[in-house]
Amino acid sequence: GEIRCSGDTIVIGLAADSGCGKSTFMRRLTSVFGGAAEPPKGGNPDSNTLISDTTTVICLDDYHSLDRTGRKVEGVTALDPRANNFDLMYEQVKALKDGIAVEKPIYNHVSGLLDPPELIKPPKILVIEGLHPMYDQRVRDLLDFSIYLDISNDVKFAWKIQRDMAERGHSLESIKASIEARKPDFDAYIDPQKQYADAVIEVLPTQLIPDDNEGKVLRVKLIMKEGVKYFSPVYLFDEGSTVSWVPCGRKLTCSYPGIKFAYGPDSYYGHEVSVLEMDGQFDKLEELIYVESHLSNISTKFYGEITQQMLKHADFPGSNNGTGLFQTIVGLKIRDLFEQVTASKASAPLEAAKA
Ligand code: ADP
Ligand code: G6P
Repeated sequence: GEIRCSGDTIVIGLAADSGCGKSTFMRRLTSVFGGAAEPPKGGNPDSNTLISDTTTVICLDDYHSLDRTGRKVEGVTALDPRANNFDLMYEQVKALKDGIAVEKPIYNHVSGLLDPPELIKPPKILVIEGLHPMYDQRVRDLLDFSIYLDISNDVKFAWKIQRDMAERGHSLESIKASIEARKPDFDAYIDPQKQYADAVIEVLPTQLIPDDNEGKVLRVKLIMKEGVKYFSPVYLFDEGSTVSWVPCGRKLTCSYPGIKFAYGPDSYYGHEVSVLEMDGQFDKLEELIYVESHLSNISTKFYGEITQQMLKHADFPGSNNGTGLFQTIVGLKIRDLFEQVTASKASAPLEAAKA
């Protein structure tokens, strides 16, 4: 039988290449929504789903139509649309949005096979994360908000080396080769989705150190689309102005190479956007409160909430720089969006009755 709830699910899309910090972002996001999301209890231990009271995160790899062997035989990568079932993705995201539970397939990352499906009930907030949340127009049109994590090639390389060499024993050459092999499909199918994103977090090498190639110090941009319903971009000091700010001084400790913020209007794929940028890293995370107090429109519920969230997850990668800061801010903006959508739905019948 069909399980039907109220149908108030909002759907968030998070796109990025794998190994680019999606799961870290998800942990920050669900923490802001009021509780860590966990794998479903008593189900397939290789499930990719995460569930909390409010939020269900599904991984779009589950819509692979070709398993690892199938991809090999056909000579296509996981990034290729031909390896993915967009019809099913659309049907199931639509059903969940309408309040109907679905039997979602599971792509087993260990075996590379498709496992028997798992039951997903409609949550308050559904996050679809993976390679293609904004690729298919039908799926894209279901999204209430979309985010693209744009990790520049240099930084992606540095992160992959960190993880695959240190933790998985891969060689430098093999890491280079695997990035090169993915690049054409990445450029063709993944990267173009950023034009549709309501918010883009762009991660670049620092400009504070000349010719830096370590990829440890980062310059991070939060690109926020103007005119998106229920989303008003964050600003620094004065909305719409162009600002450059070096906050180092009496209230903020900055060792080499320092910290630099920038804010201002810009254009991105023909859309008007506001861009907030941070280059460098914090020495003392608790001093982030000084920066937080200068930001506006951050959708916090109390003074210092961003700093509190960042301190709570100080052990997550990126907590001392713009990646963690902007992921936390996007989390707060999505919570705000969710609350506004819910409030508008609650008052809609009243408005109709009045008319
Ligand atoms: P994904 O879920 O997209 O595969 P993860 O969140 O698991 O990515 O991150 C993959 C790896 O990338 C981490 O283990 C870490 O080494 C690195 N990483 C992710 N986010 C950051 C960050 N903000 N700063 C530094 N390294 C990061
Ligand atoms: C991407 C996809 C995964 C896939 C991996 C390797 O990261 O998100 O689903 O498993 O590529 O693909 P392969 O075809 O080598 O197993």
